[in-house]
Amino acid sequence: MQGTSSPAKEAIERCGTSVSGSRLLSGSRRLHVELESEVADLLGCEAAITLANGHATNVTVIGHLVGPGDLVVHDALAHDSILQGCKLSGATRRPFPHNDAAALDALLTQVRHQYRRVLVVIEGVYSMDGDIADLPALVQVKRRHGVLLMIDEAHSIGVIGARGRGIGEYFGVDRSAVDLWSGTLSKALASCGGYVAANRSVVEYLRYTLPGFVYSAGMTPADTAASLTALRMLRAQPQRVVRLSANAALFAGLAREAGVNAGDSHDTPIVPCVVGDSLRTLRLAQALFQQGISVNPILYPAVPEELARLRFFITCDHSPDQIRRAVTALARELRHLGAAPAA
Ligand SMILES: Cc1ncc(COP(=O)(O)O)c(C=O)c1O
Repeated sequence: MQGTSSPAKEAIERCGTSVSGSRLLSGSRRLHVELESEVADLLGCEAAITLANGHATNVTVIGHLVGPGDLVVHDALAHDSILQGCKLSGATRRPFPHNDAAALDALLTQVRHQYRRVLVVIEGVYSMDGDIADLPALVQVKRRHGVLLMIDEAHSIGVIGARGRGIGEYFGVDRSAVDLWSGTLSKALASCGGYVAANRSVVEYLRYTLPGFVYSAGMTPADTAASLTALRMLRAQPQRVVRLSANAALFAGLAREAGVNAGDSHDTPIVPCVVGDSLRTLRLAQALFQQGISVNPILYPAVPEELARLRFFITCDHSPDQIRRAVTALARELRHLGAAPAA
């Protein structure tokens, strides 16, 4: 959080650069407790714990909660941290077709009885496509089969829902219908670290048993203060989320009007421009960069070659004029490169 870093600096002055130990020993600071309470409140959960890294949070939580004899079913587009957690756990792993609750239902009907415990892991917003998990349908499937449901909110927290409270707020679902809400503090929350929110007894269990929490140092004071400040700003300034969603809708609408293939992106500030060729995607990103537009090229093998794309991230600070200029430049460069995709 540039320009508003004084809470992070103050935290260093007060508590140092490291908490120098596991939270269970001497590593806990009041800042951690405040952050965890703020995260739980934002998500509408009873409690939360934070860890020093977002990727490691998924790895340790999944690795800890399921094991041999269990099954993890995850969305086919799951992030690497989810896949690594599955590997660590020793549980059987099965992907289900992206965001397809009916396919998940069919899979569980077939195999649920073979396993002691089944964990379904999805993401709130998918980072390559900017689409939103069909949470109401997935919750019904979860209930029908008696399985645990975990959502990684990396790209939905601070982003969707009227006040940026994520996919739970977006769909207005009963928060206790989801067993574990995990996420990272490194995106909308301007810091570095991860969290898991759940009911009080689950969080208490994790606090005393989760290897990545028990055997690893807690978040640094500066990181903790930075995300605490970001959360408080989010609560105090919901107009930022409104502006973000208006900007995202403006960009996606103009891009589609210009013939850009923005895939299934909707209601999120992640808007792909599917080019379908890694080399052209790279050239397009370079041409836009030279015009002052920073956009990530997403190339094979991160996505299949025919889905190589630019991935635009819109922010609440973009002006409508910047958005219009970016779409005009994108359409022009697509034409120059002969990369106009099928709309
Ligand atoms: C869906 C998802 N989960 C977890 C992570 C890991 O977060 P971090 O980079 O803060 O470790 C990321 C990061 O890109 C992510 O996209």
